[in-house]
Amino acid sequence: MERKDKRKIKITGTGFYVPDKVLTNFDLEKMVNTSDEWIFTRTGIKERRIASKDQATSDLAIEASKLTLKDAGLKVKDIDLIITATSTPDTIFPSTACWIQKGLGADIIPAFDISAGCTGFLYGMILAESMILNGQHKRILLVGGEALTKVTNWKNRNTCILFGDAAGAAILEESHDDSGMLSYYWKADGNLGDLLYQPAGGTRIPASTQSLAQDLHCLQMKGNEVFKHAVKRMEEAALEVLERAGLKKEDIDFLIPHQANKRIIEAIGRRLRVPPEKVYSNIHKYGNVSVASIPICLHELSQEGKLKKGDIVLMDAFGAGFTWAAVTYRW
Ligand code: UT7
Repeated sequence: MERKDKRKIKITGTGFYVPDKVLTNFDLEKMVNTSDEWIFTRTGIKERRIASKDQATSDLAIEASKLTLKDAGLKVKDIDLIITATSTPDTIFPSTACWIQKGLGADIIPAFDISAGCTGFLYGMILAESMILNGQHKRILLVGGEALTKVTNWKNRNTCILFGDAAGAAILEESHDDSGMLSYYWKADGNLGDLLYQPAGGTRIPASTQSLAQDLHCLQMKGNEVFKHAVKRMEEAALEVLERAGLKKEDIDFLIPHQANKRIIEAIGRRLRVPPEKVYSNIHKYGNVSVASIPICLHELSQEGKLKKGDIVLMDAFGAGFTWAAVTYRW
C-alpha cells in the first residue's frame, strides 16, 4: 500500500555473499543431456555458485550480513531484529534466523524466518516497514539466503541447470529524507503450490527410505507453467505498485526483477516499456538464487555507481507459493 502519512523506511546498507565454487554450463554438459547453448538461450545463465558440503544457508547469510553491517557502518549490536527469508533453511527448526543470530553473536533480540519462495526478500521489506513505522523496531537486518543446490535433483535437466546458492542482505531503518520505500503490493495463491515445490521432508511426506529413493526431497517444478504465471503476475504487481505510488512506467529509472530466467526479465521489461539498459540482470553469473537475487542486484547496482539519489527503482518478484510482490523505492 501507499502510506498515507508519507513516513518511509529506507535501506542503509546492502551486501551479499556467494560461495567460491563455480559450476559452468560446460560442467553441466558432463552431468546431464544439455548444452551451454540451450541453457544460455533459454535462461541467460552461464554459471552459478555451489555451496560446499559444510556450508548451510546460514553460513552464506552470516557472511552476507557481516558485509552488509560493514556497508551500513554498523556493529551487530546495533540491530534489533533479524528477519531471514529462505526456502532452504538449515533445519526445519530452529529457524535459520536463529542460527544466523548465533553466528553473528547478535544480542538476545527477536529472529525469525519467512517462507515466501523467491518473493521472500520483498515480503521481508514489506513486513519490516510496518515493524519500523509502528515503532516496534529501529534497525532490522533482513537477509535472504538459499542453498538451493542442496535440494536440486542433479539427474533432472529441467531443474538442475537453473539454481545457484547465495545470500544477500539489507539494513532497514526509518527514512528521514526523501529516499525510501514508496509503495508495495503483495499477493499469494496457494492453489498453484505444487507447480514449484519440495514435496518431502515436511509433515506431508516425512523423510523415509521411499521418499529418498523417489528423490522427493528435491525441488520439483513445471517450468513452463511457472514461466507463464511469473510473467503475468510480475506485470500485475509492477502496474499496481506504480499506481499506488502515483508513478508512471516512464518514471522507472531501474527495474530489478527477480532473476529467474532472462526471458522473464526481458518480457517484464518490454511490458513495462523500460529500456533494456534500465533492466538490471546478473543471472548469467549466479543463476536463479531465489530470495538472494534482488538484494544482490541492489548491491551491485549501488556499487557500480549506477544508482543516483532520487532514482526510482522498481523491484518485482515471483516465486513458490505462488507468491508475488513489488516495491517502488526512491534511492
Ligand atoms: O524462481 C521462481 C520462478 N521460477 C521460474 O520462473 C522458472 C520459470 N521457468 C523457466 O525458466 C523455463 O520454463 C525453463 C528454463 C525451466 C524451461 O524452459 P522452457 O523454454 O519452458 O522449456 P520447456 O520446459 O518447454 O522444454 C522445452 C524442451 C523440452 O524438449 P521437448 O519436449 O520439446 O523435446 C525439454 O525436454 O527443452 C527440453 N529441455 C532441455 N533441453 C536441453 C528441458 N531442459 C533442458 C536442458 N537442456 N537443460
